Amino acid sequence: MLRIVLGSDLAPERAADPALAHLLSQGRGSLAFLLGDAACRYRLLTTGIHWDRVLLAFDGERAVGFAAFKHARRGPFALRWRPFVREFGLVAGGVRFAGFCLSEWREWRYPFLLYGLRVDKPARNQGVGAALVQACCAHAAAQGFARIELEVPLDNPRARRLYLHNGFALRRKRLVPFPPVRGMWRGLP
Ligand SMILES: CC(C)(COP(=O)(O)OP(=O)(O)OC[C@H]1O[C@@H](n2cnc3c(N)ncnc32)[C@H](O)[C@@H]1OP(=O)(O)O)[C@@H](O)C(=O)NCCC(=O)NCCS
Repeated sequence: MLRIVLGSDLAPERAADPALAHLLSQGRGSLAFLLGDAACRYRLLTTGIHWDRVLLAFDGERAVGFAAFKHARRGPFALRWRPFVREFGLVAGGVRFAGFCLSEWREWRYPFLLYGLRVDKPARNQGVGAALVQACCAHAAAQGFARIELEVPLDNPRARRLYLHNGFALRRKRLVPFPPVRGMWRGLP
């Protein structure tokens, strides 16, 4: 049976399970030019996870997916420069960290942003993604937000379809197509 839990409600020893951080670091693939591959993202991002910005889907004891979100200028990842310098050296690490900060700050204009969504491959097409999207909408509504926004990559029709089927509408195409994403939004009761 599927269970969706806010990361900060997990027992501390459960949240410390590296498998959860691992799952989370599989997201942000579109920023691979800054953050490297999944193993590198794990080293860069998981030293400071804000678990109060992550909903986790569990099938029994196994985490099978997550939805991460941002509001009040806080997303799932703390902005820490040290791991970038350790990974890439002072100059390249500094440049990559600055690029990551810009990408994070750009999203602060959204009052409540669905920042990332991912379901483990074997668990896909069983409704986990939809359940996470709905749980994220319910969480935003419970926090008093009137709408939820997200950005979907132009080359991800599968995710776009999932959002459309879960009450989201497309925003107008942007004049400047960078980053290559399309805005979507949904009003909340
Ligand atoms: C996009 C993603 C999160 C979808 O997750 P998912 O768990 O497969 O999503 P769902 O199962 O809820 O929906 C997927 C499809 O399965 C179908 N489905 C849902 N439950 C089903 C069931 N019990 N039996 C058969 N099919 C089912 C749905 O109809 C849906 O198809 P549709 O969107 O054409 O209607 C997942 O593919 C993923 O992690 N992709 C990589 C990361 C990514 O792209 N993230 C989005 C970034 S914006």
